[in-house]
Amino acid sequence: MGFSTDAIHAGQEPDPTTGAVTVPIYQTSTYVQEELGRHKGFEYARTQNPTRLALERNLAALEGGARAFAFSSGMSAISAICYLLRAGDHVVTSFNMYGGTVRLFEKVLTGYGVGFTYVDTSDLAATAAAFRPTTRLLFAETPTNPTMIVSDLRALAALARERGALLAVDNTFMTPYFQRPLALGAHLAVHSTTKYLNGHSDMVGGVVVSNDPASTERLQFVQNAVGAVPGPFDCWLVLRGVKTLPVRMERHNRNAMEIAGWLARHPGLGRVYYPGLPDHPGHALHKSQASGFGGMIAFDTGSLERGAAVLRRARLFALAESLGGVESLISHPATMTHASVPREEREKIGLTDGLVRISVGIEDVEDLVADLEQALSVL
Ligand SMILES: Cc1ncc(COP(=O)(O)O)c(C=O)c1O
Repeated sequence: MGFSTDAIHAGQEPDPTTGAVTVPIYQTSTYVQEELGRHKGFEYARTQNPTRLALERNLAALEGGARAFAFSSGMSAISAICYLLRAGDHVVTSFNMYGGTVRLFEKVLTGYGVGFTYVDTSDLAATAAAFRPTTRLLFAETPTNPTMIVSDLRALAALARERGALLAVDNTFMTPYFQRPLALGAHLAVHSTTKYLNGHSDMVGGVVVSNDPASTERLQFVQNAVGAVPGPFDCWLVLRGVKTLPVRMERHNRNAMEIAGWLARHPGLGRVYYPGLPDHPGHALHKSQASGFGGMIAFDTGSLERGAAVLRRARLFALAESLGGVESLISHPATMTHASVPREEREKIGLTDGLVRISVGIEDVEDLVADLEQALSVL
């Protein structure tokens, strides 16, 4: 089936008891057993829940993976991947990632004897050079958050496979509608479902999709053993959100293309970061591995004061963390999403104090441009 058909139907049968078209919210913690050892495949809701299972089957189909495992947040999904590691293992990872991922790696996992090397994964030679005999995982985002650095997923997958490591890709920004890392050779795709997959800013969740048999088996064990599972209502909200993912992503993309072009022509701004702009250094590569550019844009206002003045004036663009909802948001990465990244590290990736990030929603683009125009008039 096509992507839009799968988004609406994959993993979802009409309810066998009532015929309900929409998968019910199975708000239960346990299931009655017919006799000792005989049940309908559901024993306890940390281990299995029908609403969660429908979501997992749906997202596995959309990412083209064998299995998906849902978690209570994007961070717990990323943590589940980290449970595939042991003390003494080494990870090569992108030097520009969501700040919370860096915080998990640096402030939690290093304490358990896992080592990390941060590298520009758009530089293949540097990435290859960062590998050690103990490297078990290559973890990447493309385009990165927030300066939109694009890495070659096919080449990273080939490198990881050649060195006997797993490639995991945080695909939150693109969603499987625009980019399917598993089809390009990655072993694992991970998402904060809080963002575009849910799309309505009304829950927090995560998912890992696996195409690697050993990881699939371990992730299933970890999901139950660690227990960071999402509640059924949150799973249902993502399932509902995903039904409109293709139409939402088309609109995010169209609005963001128009706004990025407008920002690039604005005389008061420094660099504008959006992979859809033809002069973006990763534009051609991104086009070779994704079918759209998404709704995330960053732009340099020049200083903290100028950035703060823009944030203060924005009205329709609401000042808030997060991204990927139908409504437009504006944020300041240096003090918000990436506050846990040290300044020297931030500056290496262009994450200056004046950088402003916007998540372009699906409102009327004329209204969004008008709001930015009045907000940027202070520059
Ligand atoms: C790219 C990316 N990955 C992971 C996360 C973490 O997800 P969550 O906030 O759902 O734990 C975020 C959150 O902003 C993100 O932007």
